[in-house]
Amino acid sequence: KKDLIVLGIETSCDETAAAIIKNGTEILSNIVASQIDSHKRFGGVVPELASRHHVEQITVVIEEALIKAEVTFEDIDAIAVTEGPGLVGALLVGVNAAKAISFARNIPLVGVHHIAGHIYANRLMKEMAFPLLSLVVSGGHTELVLMKEHGEFEVIGETRDDAAGEAYDKVARTLNLPYPGGPHIDRLAHEGIPTIDLPRAWLEEDSFDFSFSGLKSAVINTLHNAEQKGMSIDPKNMAASFQESVIDVLVTKTIKAAKEFHVKQVLLSGGVAANKGLRDRLEKEFAEIDGIELLIPPLHLCTDNAAMIAAAGSILFEKGKRSEYSLNANPSLDI
Ligand code: KG4
Ligand code: ZN
Repeated sequence: KKDLIVLGIETSCDETAAAIIKNGTEILSNIVASQIDSHKRFGGVVPELASRHHVEQITVVIEEALIKAEVTFEDIDAIAVTEGPGLVGALLVGVNAAKAISFARNIPLVGVHHIAGHIYANRLMKEMAFPLLSLVVSGGHTELVLMKEHGEFEVIGETRDDAAGEAYDKVARTLNLPYPGGPHIDRLAHEGIPTIDLPRAWLEEDSFDFSFSGLKSAVINTLHNAEQKGMSIDPKNMAASFQESVIDVLVTKTIKAAKEFHVKQVLLSGGVAANKGLRDRLEKEFAEIDGIELLIPPLHLCTDNAAMIAAAGSILFEKGKRSEYSLNANPSLDI
């Protein structure tokens, strides 16, 4: 049987990325051009700036992915591209590049949901076993996704306000840490002690939903009150306390859902999956739970990349999914 070679393209936020994947699991190349340095001085992603950078980078990044993988367009069986969710102007660059190549070279096109990509980053390490549960934690998403088979996603819980990564970035900003703040809080948290009492939003007893805006506000209020009283709070202890609160809720709900739905695997996905505290805690807890395997991708596959989009696209392609040339960027696409 001939190998399946898929080109993946991802431009939903602030990374311009292209990758070539063989048979859904083997990375031949994985190129990521990060724009973080351009957005840093604004304290967050500036959508217009992101679109312009994508336009400048997209052909270079795709070219590099082909060269690195030692393939040409002739070898590509399908083009997988992130169609949403994300920043509309950013998504449009990837979608249009994918459509142009698809049309010019007569290669099938497959639109991919960004979160499906994050989940499939795990398949680049190990084969999936169903049913599985994925904890998706990124800058824009916090979701528990149940999968009973390839390409089928059921959201059993999601954030009602801020995403976990968003909370990290906002709290980081109040602590005067650079954007993106997640890695900085993570680092500080390991140097501090969780001495500050912060809330945990458990919500209703049977709910797998999340809420992080109350926690974020509690951090801001605590810092503000201390400042007014002329007291100082050690940012390390604040980072440790905040991180502990986030992780407590994420891990407790993940374990509860994993048991309730009798899953074989739990997959950690998304940019916040790079968090050392979260990885360590999940590993520790799941080591004591029989019959559930925990998968955690390496750091470079947790944050946005195109290998994960090609991995999800490969499965969708094999299941028969083809996108038309009417494929459009959809900033609020449902999984
Ligand atoms: O998945 P991603 O690269 O982009 C989105 O799809 O949103 O996730 C980016 C998010 C940012 O909010 C960033 O602060 C967070 O992931 N992040 C982390 C860590 N590394 C990245 N959050 C906590 N700890 C980390 N080590
Ligand atoms: Zn992402």
